[in-house]
Amino acid sequence: MKDLESVLFDQELIARRVKELGTRISEDYKDKQLVLVAVLRGALIFMSDLTREISIHHSFDLVGASSYRGGTSSQGWVQITKDVGMDLAGKDVIIVEDIYDSGRTVAAIKDLLKVHHVASIEVCTFLYKHTESRLFDIDVKYRGFDIDDVFVVGYGLDYQEYFRNLPLVGVLKREVYSSGADE
Ligand code: IMP
Ligand code: MG
Repeated sequence: MKDLESVLFDQELIARRVKELGTRISEDYKDKQLVLVAVLRGALIFMSDLTREISIHHSFDLVGASSYRGGTSSQGWVQITKDVGMDLAGKDVIIVEDIYDSGRTVAAIKDLLKVHHVASIEVCTFLYKHTESRLFDIDVKYRGFDIDDVFVVGYGLDYQEYFRNLPLVGVLKREVYSSGADE
């Protein structure tokens, strides 16, 4: 793929890891009322694979959040663009995210869910970024892969809404975003 500098995780590796997470969650939540709550739009791909790797009875819902970003760096505040649609009172919720970066998005979703009187909240993120720009240190129980502070795309993750469809995760070439109009 000409826009990628390198591939970090290919399709096969991702599938194997998502399966492992699904198995672990199925075990941990076997006596609970699990609801996955995925954050639009980035977590959609991960969620659709994860839910099919969870063998116990569960349901899922979607919330919308957009953090205002200048090109590739997360900044500003988080706007909730879609609230949950189902009654989550008494449910054991896992927030499903594409990537944990500054922590701002997950913090905002956690606050939102508390209002819904859930029984418990955990976080499952496909990628966990090790970054200096962490703002919220929230306990992230389930992590697909840990990555360095690089900008990645694919498997739901975008650069200006593109590249979400790539079945793999790769580091975007610097020249792709340095020529971007918003930088
Ligand atoms: P946070 O709120 O700073 O933790 O950022 C989370 C959101 O920023 C994610 O849901 C992504 O949409 C976006 N994001 C952070 N890092 C990356 C990246 O490397 N590639 C693509 N999107 C990213
Ligand atoms: Mg994004």
